[in-house]
Amino acid sequence: KGIITLDSGYKNTGSCESAITFLDGEKGILRYRGYSIEELAEKADFLEVAYLLIFGELPTGNQLEKFHSDIKIHSVVDEDVKKILDAFPKSAHPMGVLSSLTSALTAFNPTSVNVDSEEDMYNAIVRLLGKLPILVAWAMRKKQGLPLDYGDNSLGYVENLLKMMFSRPNSCYVQNPILVNALDKLLILHADHEQNCSTSTVRITGSSHAGLFVSVSAGISALWGPLHGGANQAVLEMLEAIKEDGGDTKKYMAKAKDKADPFRLMGFGHRVYKNFDPRAKIIKVAADEVLGDLGVEDPILDIAKGLEKEALTDKYFVDRKLYPNVDFYSGIIYRAMGIPTEMFTVMFALGRLPGWIAQWREMRLRKEPIGRPRQLYIGEKERAFMPIDKR
Ligand code: CMC
Repeated sequence: KGIITLDSGYKNTGSCESAITFLDGEKGILRYRGYSIEELAEKADFLEVAYLLIFGELPTGNQLEKFHSDIKIHSVVDEDVKKILDAFPKSAHPMGVLSSLTSALTAFNPTSVNVDSEEDMYNAIVRLLGKLPILVAWAMRKKQGLPLDYGDNSLGYVENLLKMMFSRPNSCYVQNPILVNALDKLLILHADHEQNCSTSTVRITGSSHAGLFVSVSAGISALWGPLHGGANQAVLEMLEAIKEDGGDTKKYMAKAKDKADPFRLMGFGHRVYKNFDPRAKIIKVAADEVLGDLGVEDPILDIAKGLEKEALTDKYFVDRKLYPNVDFYSGIIYRAMGIPTEMFTVMFALGRLPGWIAQWREMRLRKEPIGRPRQLYIGEKERAFMPIDKR
């Protein structure tokens, strides 16, 4: 007590006790509420996983139906939200649009701010799960200059999201099961990852008893950075740059190893996984399948595989235990699905939503104290004020 230990980046500091996600970085194990990520990605759908993360158990058929129908009731946003969206320039990054609109939702749903009971929490949760896919789809349509779509509540959660993203005026929207399966899998793989940067942001914001929507908005902002969720966009931009540059992967490997060059091999390395990222293994296989199923041939996938092969045998990467992470192949799938590059991190945000909600709810139910780290002061000692004409 009274002694402050410094742990920059919180590499060895536990910020909370949590029963949601188990992660063993040495063995490459990731489990949500005890279920392996491999099994969930194979057998569950995104909404089931969301329920599992938030409430702790896989839902029965009835529980899932009720959860989905409660979400559907709130799958609408106030028409005035469109005015805010209109005010953004088309060039705005959709992550900025998403975090702003998520925060703005508070103004239209003031009852979701103060949550004093589990019932209040539940209401805020189903509201946000209902509204965020609309904002995600609208952020994309705004960029593309397309009219907004409110979706169709007779569809599944992921199906409806795809319709809101991809429907075209005056044409009948036809679901593509390949896209539904691929997106379900990607969202599940991103759904939680214990106390990462954005989740810690959500927990610490919520610890002041700020509402769920603004806590998640803060998480979206934290996710945006290229060292975190923004890596999926950065990976694709990097692979495209390598392709444009003649496909010389060795040149970029050398840049990544050069300490005088700020360039990093995006999609490589992880704070916790030091042998492999189990999500990356699943996504690599899924990328092959989805591209095959959609009949897409993408030279970018070959560049990615080439880069991975080189890095896995390169001393610099091996010594530092740098392996492909979840974001290395996800962008290739999003691209094959027709999702614009700037939307990749937005897709990650939607995937992470159940995790953020589950962690926020756990933090509130456990009545955790306000998050307030200390510091080691390294500034000036006390000194006398100097009038401006004497400085
Ligand atoms: N390319 C080249 N060198 C790297 C890379 C990379 N991608 N990642 C780490 N290093 C080096 C780093 O320079 C350092 O070298 P040295 O010991 O010689 O100084 C060493 O490896 C350790 O790196 P660190 O930055 O201390 O590790 P960290 O745990 O603080 O950072 C990371 C983890 C993910 C931020 C980092 O590996 C990185 O910047 N990767 C690229 C961005 C990326 O793909 N991020 C997505 C993470 S997974 C999705 C998510 O959950 O957000």
